[in-house]
Parts: sequence; structure tokens; C-alpha cells
Amino acid sequence: MKLRYRVAIGVVSLVAAAAASGLAALRYEAPCTAAPPVPVPAGTPLMKAVVHRCYGSPDVITIEDVAKPLPASNEVLVKVRAVSVNRLDWHVLRAEPYVMRTGSGIGRPNDVRLGADFAGTVEAVGKDVTRFRVGDDVFGASGRNSAFAQYVKVVAEHWAIAPKPTNVSFEEAAAVPVAAITALQALRDQGRIQPGHKVLVNGAAGGVGTFAVQIAKALGAEVTGVCSTGGAALVARLGSDHVIDYTRDDFMLRDERYDLIVDMVGGHSPVEYQRVLTPTGALVLVGTTDKGRWLGPLSGMLAVLAYAPFIEHRVTTLIAKLNEPDLAFVAQLLQDGKITPAIDRRYAFRDTADAIRYLEQGHTHGKVVVTVD
Ligand SMILES: NC(=O)c1ccc[n+]([C@@H]2O[C@H](COP(=O)([O-])OP(=O)(O)OC[C@H]3O[C@@H](n4cnc5c(N)ncnc54)[C@H](OP(=O)(O)O)[C@@H]3O)[C@@H](O)[C@H]2O)c1
Repeated sequence: MKLRYRVAIGVVSLVAAAAASGLAALRYEAPCTAAPPVPVPAGTPLMKAVVHRCYGSPDVITIEDVAKPLPASNEVLVKVRAVSVNRLDWHVLRAEPYVMRTGSGIGRPNDVRLGADFAGTVEAVGKDVTRFRVGDDVFGASGRNSAFAQYVKVVAEHWAIAPKPTNVSFEEAAAVPVAAITALQALRDQGRIQPGHKVLVNGAAGGVGTFAVQIAKALGAEVTGVCSTGGAALVARLGSDHVIDYTRDDFMLRDERYDLIVDMVGGHSPVEYQRVLTPTGALVLVGTTDKGRWLGPLSGMLAVLAYAPFIEHRVTTLIAKLNEPDLAFVAQLLQDGKITPAIDRRYAFRDTADAIRYLEQGHTHGKVVVTVD
């Protein structure tokens, strides 16, 4: 065999071996370890927090004593009254799809804390904070995934934290940030929704879907919600003009055409969606029910991005960006009574693992909240 072929085979073998060991490393899960002694000086105030010291199912979750955070000069410290559970939380808990582990840690989590959405009362403010005062009721999303705790600290400016509307409870407010901001950005930014548009929301009974239905109505659209039989009454109550029960009917096979489809379920190729879009219609794929460990919902989203340049319709995906202006927009809709959080189940803080277990089943109708006391 010629030398150059031997070199080529050697290089290919090396690359294949490196790729195989990289993939094996991504799949590796170190066993759960016991909590190390709290590394804080004696006398430091402690708080209870949800912790996961390894990747895995909600079984790996513990509630531990950790140091109560101290706000930096630009941060507020919030005494958490309620949190809500998002798919994001179980993606972080399991570190699936595996590609997430390149950021969250190979083998075990770099950061053992969990939780985005919270509502509570400002306990302390840093010296540069002007937007909030001690005692203000607020809600928001922790950019550090550390909201499942008795206290959370949040950067006060530009982050997703806003005064809690007075007409909603802490549980209702905690249900809002991630799901409602995702729905808003899917409809308004990616979907370019206009008054009078016919909008189809697939997955209308879920956390994001219940807000998508209401926000689309508030923005003047005619809304069709797709959900199971069990979610139909809720979706109609939230204002959906039409409800399609996917266990009996398939919107892909009907004659209706939509100006915008906001899809939380997936399962169709972008070419198939074109059949039910108006000539200027658009698809926004927000997520899918794919629980594949390697790519999960990313596979559907990558397919949309791959097809997008080659098909007539605008098809796109979304990675929601949690920010203060959009939270304030949603807060105004809440205060005006134009949207109302739908709460499926409430759990006690000690049962946070059960809340995530329930969400993982994939059939919630509204949001799952946890009361923190
Ligand atoms: N891109 C982003 O930035 C972003 C942000 C947030 C969430 N997401 C993604 O968006 C998706 C939805 O999130 P979520 O918080 O709304 O989830 P969720 O609260 O778990 O709700 C999922 C809903 O889908 C319904 N469903 C299941 N199969 C369906 C089908 N074939 N047709 C219609 N509905 C179906 C379920 O109820 P029934 O089975 O009773 O119908 C449930 O109501 C997830 O994939 C999540 O990861 C993406």
C-alpha cells in the first residue's frame, strides 16, 4: 500500500477514535455523591435549595443547606415565594440532549443548582440598584438557574425581573416568565404576527401554549389551538377561537390555511407544514416532543434551519431570550387582565422532584408551580 494511503487511513482512524471517545465522554454519568460540608465560614446564613449532584432523573434531586446569597452592588436578593417548572429544568437536570454537557460539565454538573422562574419579595438590594426597594413584590427568571431555593439573587438592570402585577398571586406570577416570554417572542419576533392573522398554536394546552393562545388573541389574531381531549376545555376558556383535538383530527389533513403556526410539538418536516400555510404564512418551531438523548428537540430545529433556505415559506426556530422589556410587556398584559396564568398543579417545595417528574410526562395542561415557604 502506498505511503499516502497509509497516512490517510491513520489520520481517519485517529479522528474516528477521537470522535468515539468524545461521544463516550458525553454519555458518561458520574455517580451521585453525598453533599460535601457546606464550605462557608461559621455563622454564615444558610438557606434550603434544590440541588442535583449528578445528572439523572428527578430521583437525584436533594434539598440541601447552602449559603444564602449576598447581592452584589447591581443585584437584588429575592425571598422566593413560588417557582415554576419548565422543560428547561429537566433538560438541565439530565443534561440531555448530551450536547448540553459541553457547557454544563462532562460526567457531572459544574453547577448543582436548578430553576429559572420565580416570584417573591425583595429582601435586600445592592448599593447601585435603583429599580427596586426592599419589600417590593417581583417576579422573573434567574439567569443562573438557581431559583429553586428560599432566596435567589438577580442582576437588577436589564435582566428578566419586574414588579409583580398586583392582580396575580405569587404562584401565578411564577408560572409566567419563561413560558410567556417564549410565546411572545415566537409570535411577535419570529412569527411577525399581525392583527387578523390566522394563527395555529400546536401544543396549546402546555406551559408555552396556554400563553401563546392568550397573547395571540391579545395581539388581535384568530387563534386555533391544538391539544388533546383533556386540554380542550382549558384552551377554549383561554380564548382560542377554534380547538382541534389531535386525538381525533389532524390539522395537517384539513383544508384550513394559517398565516402563522407556532409549534411546540413538531413531528413534521418543514415541507409538510407548507401545505397548511397561506402563501405568505410562516412556521416557528419552538420545541418538539422528541426525547432523544443525543439531540432531542434540537433535531427538529436543525431540520427547520436546514430546510429554510430551500423552501418558499418562512420557517424558523427560536431560542427565547429572557429580558426585562419582554417581561414588562407580559406583566402589563397580566395587569390588564388580557392574559391569565393557567396552573395545572401546585407542589410543596420538598416535593420539587415530583413536580419535575409530572412535567416530564409531557401532558401538563397549564403550568406546574412549587410553593416555597
Ligand atoms: N425554544 C425555546 O426557547 C423554548 C422555550 C421554552 C420551551 N421550549 C420548548 O417548547 C416545548 C413546549 O414547552 P412547554 O413548556 O409548553 O411544555 P409542556 O408544559 O410540557 O406542555 C407540552 C404540551 O404538549 C401537549 N402535547 C403533547 N403531544 C401533543 C400533540 N401531538 N399535539 C398537540 N399537543 C401535544 C401536551 O398535552 P396533551 O398531551 O394533553 O395534549 C402538553 O400540554 C418543549 O419542547 C420545550 O422544550 C422551547
